[in-house]
Amino acid sequence: MTPPTAAARRGEPLPAHLLDDAERMSREELRTLQLSRLRTTLRHAYDNVELYRRKFDDAGVAPEDCRSLEDLARFPFTTKADLRDTYPFGMFAVPMDRIRRVHASSGTTGRATVVGYTDNDLSLWADVVARSIRAAGGRPGHKVHISYGYGLFTGGLGAHYGAERAGCTVVPASGGMTARQVQIIQDFKPEIIMVTPSYMLTLLDEFEKQGIDPRSTSLQVGIFGAEPWTEEMRREIEERMDIHAVDIYGLSEVIGPGVAQECVETKDGLHVWEDHFYPEIVDPLTDDVLPDGEDGELAFTSLTKEGLPVIRYRTRDLTRLLPGTARPAFRRIQKITGRCDDMIILRGVNIFPSQIEEIVLRAPGVAPHFQIQLTRRGRMDHMTIRVEAGPGVGKEQREAAAREIVQGVKDSIGVTVEVAIVEMETLERSLGKLRRVKDLRRQ
Ligand code: DLL
Repeated sequence: MTPPTAAARRGEPLPAHLLDDAERMSREELRTLQLSRLRTTLRHAYDNVELYRRKFDDAGVAPEDCRSLEDLARFPFTTKADLRDTYPFGMFAVPMDRIRRVHASSGTTGRATVVGYTDNDLSLWADVVARSIRAAGGRPGHKVHISYGYGLFTGGLGAHYGAERAGCTVVPASGGMTARQVQIIQDFKPEIIMVTPSYMLTLLDEFEKQGIDPRSTSLQVGIFGAEPWTEEMRREIEERMDIHAVDIYGLSEVIGPGVAQECVETKDGLHVWEDHFYPEIVDPLTDDVLPDGEDGELAFTSLTKEGLPVIRYRTRDLTRLLPGTARPAFRRIQKITGRCDDMIILRGVNIFPSQIEEIVLRAPGVAPHFQIQLTRRGRMDHMTIRVEAGPGVGKEQREAAAREIVQGVKDSIGVTVEVAIVEMETLERSLGKLRRVKDLRRQ
């Protein structure tokens, strides 16, 4: 048998005997399963959560009205505001003594949102993360270094139990203590790392600072998520580290990491684990459901969760649904490049930070560290992109890089911005999720 280590290095597809039952289903079988689970979930939500009962009644729909998957469109949406209004436990659908764990997301405004899991929920979560790790190239016997934060954030513990379920050895490093993480990677020799892409860059710099060639480490696969990242970032990380970089998606309200996962052999978007999470794409302005292939806001309905069932939960994440490839029954979402909330409107033009990332990472002579600052000049909004110079890059090259980025933004987005090339290691580094945009307009 091929040793697991070599299989991951080559980015081989998962051998058929390691696929789980749902991964072997046909699309038709999956849809039948989805409908029966959906009907059970709608009934469970209606019977046990006051907010859902009120919303369904107001919309004039009852759980039995859902006779096909398309009927879901008749049911009302759920938003983060619903969770905030019922803070902390008001949307839990089981008695508190059946909730085995809670997580919470801090949120940038207002109260945190709290999510709760029964024993079965925790088990299903471990299953979908394990499935994700296998799709990324992880195999039993691999060591998985987890640098997602442990705590109320779902990243650390979500990855942890999934990696254990996948038969891996977990190194629960959590975030922070960057120099020590590098030491541990050198000593324990993990094959897999699970971390935000921005903290991966912080770790990469630390390897170099310690005089270690990042391409020489034992790592073979990085499973990156919790924030948007671009194809340019994938290339940067894959080249500098000689690993496969694959995308993992999820959100606390739906379960945490493991809602969708990119397969290492195709790297063509993320398969949504549709046997547990039913995706829809919605027009963020009209609320209409859009056909597969069209861009819009992703919404999820959980199909098996007990503690916190979510019905048509609006994620604010923008993407589109595509047919399955490496897992034919499961549709894919295109890599998420922005959230409705992250959109910057600069002098009438809509801009996502990921568009800036693409341009900055293509420019020669600069490091992949940048920050977007928004200020006001008179009555006009102004954007300054602060980018760190690459090592040993002189004045002329810096000026050329700045000109190239200004031109790139003008050509591809159509706005004029200012670019400031700053000294190395002067921009804030990520320890988890990075905030790219500094909005100084209202200060
Ligand atoms: O970030 C869960 C997670 C942890 C996912 C670790 C992947 C890895 P929240 O803190 O609730 O949960 O934040 C969810 O993060 O709505 C997206 O806007 C963003 N996000 C998560 N994964 C990705 C990704 C976790 N792969 C919010 N690409 C989501 C782009 C992502 N954005």
